[in-house]
Amino acid sequence: MTRNGTNEEDARMRTQVGIVGAGPAGLMLSHLLHLHGIESVVLECRSREYVEQRVRAGVLEQGSVDLLHRTGLADRLLREGMRHEGIELRFDGESHRVPMTELTGRAITVYGQQEVVKDLIAARLAAGGSLLFEADAVRLDGLDSDSPVIHFRRDGRDEELHCDFVAGCDGFHGVSRGAVPDGVLRAYERTYPFAWLGVLAAAPPAVDELVYANHERGFALYSLRSPEISRLYLQVAPDEEIAAWPDERIWAELRTRLETVPGWSLNEGPVLEKSITPMRSFVVEPMQWQRLFLAGDAVHIVPPTGAKGMNLALADVALLGDAFAAWYGQQRTDLLETYSTTALRRVWRAQHFSWWMTSMLHRLEKDDPYETKLQAATLRYVATSAAYATSLAENYVGLPEV
Ligand code: FAD
Ligand code: PHB
Repeated sequence: MTRNGTNEEDARMRTQVGIVGAGPAGLMLSHLLHLHGIESVVLECRSREYVEQRVRAGVLEQGSVDLLHRTGLADRLLREGMRHEGIELRFDGESHRVPMTELTGRAITVYGQQEVVKDLIAARLAAGGSLLFEADAVRLDGLDSDSPVIHFRRDGRDEELHCDFVAGCDGFHGVSRGAVPDGVLRAYERTYPFAWLGVLAAAPPAVDELVYANHERGFALYSLRSPEISRLYLQVAPDEEIAAWPDERIWAELRTRLETVPGWSLNEGPVLEKSITPMRSFVVEPMQWQRLFLAGDAVHIVPPTGAKGMNLALADVALLGDAFAAWYGQQRTDLLETYSTTALRRVWRAQHFSWWMTSMLHRLEKDDPYETKLQAATLRYVATSAAYATSLAENYVGLPEV
């Protein structure tokens, strides 16, 4: 990053790739570019504390773990991450294990998204990287020129970041996607008639592997963060207020939906955090316009049932890192040109899988007995057919090639 010297121009900076958003996508892209000797500046509207504490995803595919490993970010992940070789499906008073590693040779790792974010921030700062927190990108200009500008506000001042390219990694509610002129992008979406209530609790997990439960009162998921911390989710109405869910109601509902197999009970403890997340499927195509490259939740959202969102964000920027390296290193344009097409193949595989898992496990409509029968048939097929279970498993651990 270079800053112009005069006072008047003090609010102008220049870099090679301007990145909007310090989530997993933006931070990982900045790290990858650094490894290729390419300069970037990351603008993040929230504080460092906020992004490091924000509780979200927890499941890393094998490919994401490999990426973190390859790029020197896996020290703590290897110590604290928990490798899981199966998941459990609970329905109809029964429990069925999907032995993912046996079926695919691969596994997932449970490691909180905010831990990935902390590791990435630490690595960027240790390498002298430019991460500007509380820097709110408000407008992108000149995307169809070779010198785009990100206008942002920081400390009550208007500032500008001039760059060669902009990477829009600013999530679903960011500004980047909206900077593309009308008529260029096409959106594909589906909203679901429910949301997830997520709970982080100081309670030792009563499970060794994640439990996905289909129950007549709605879906429940038992996940974890450490031997002391459980992460639990409940399907709730889309317009549900968090105030309607005092801790005792949450535990009672979790007991009802999860304690369906004889002799098993969950462990309760103080609720550390709870929030409600709406559920949607969303893709915008293409993922690039002129000098703007979009990645992660800024261009695609999946319902969290397939645990794919953070993994897709990392997969997008792995492609983008190589594409920028080819451009700066060898003046090659091919990888930048094919970025969107290549990334969308994985995006749509994950869209289908996430929709499929969501449809199989949630209570979809209030009174649709036909739908309920189809769900039961699907769950039983997964539980009894190695071929069908393998399809679930290979998508869940992540397909190396799509
Ligand atoms: P974000 O993490 O949303 O980062 C975008 C960043 O941009 C944010 O820090 C935001 O503050 C910043 N920003 C926004 N606007 C601006 C602006 N104007 N200027 C500057 N900065 C801006 N995924 C999985 O892979 N596995 C899971 O198990 C999983 N579980 C989930 C559970 C829940 C409850 C939720 C909500 C999500 C889950 N996900 C999961 C999805 C995952 O969290 C997201 O897909 C992931 O955060 C996407 O990363 P990202 O970097 O694209 O976007
Ligand atoms: C989580 O641990 O937060 C988690 C796990 C699996 C999912 C979604 C979220 O499908």
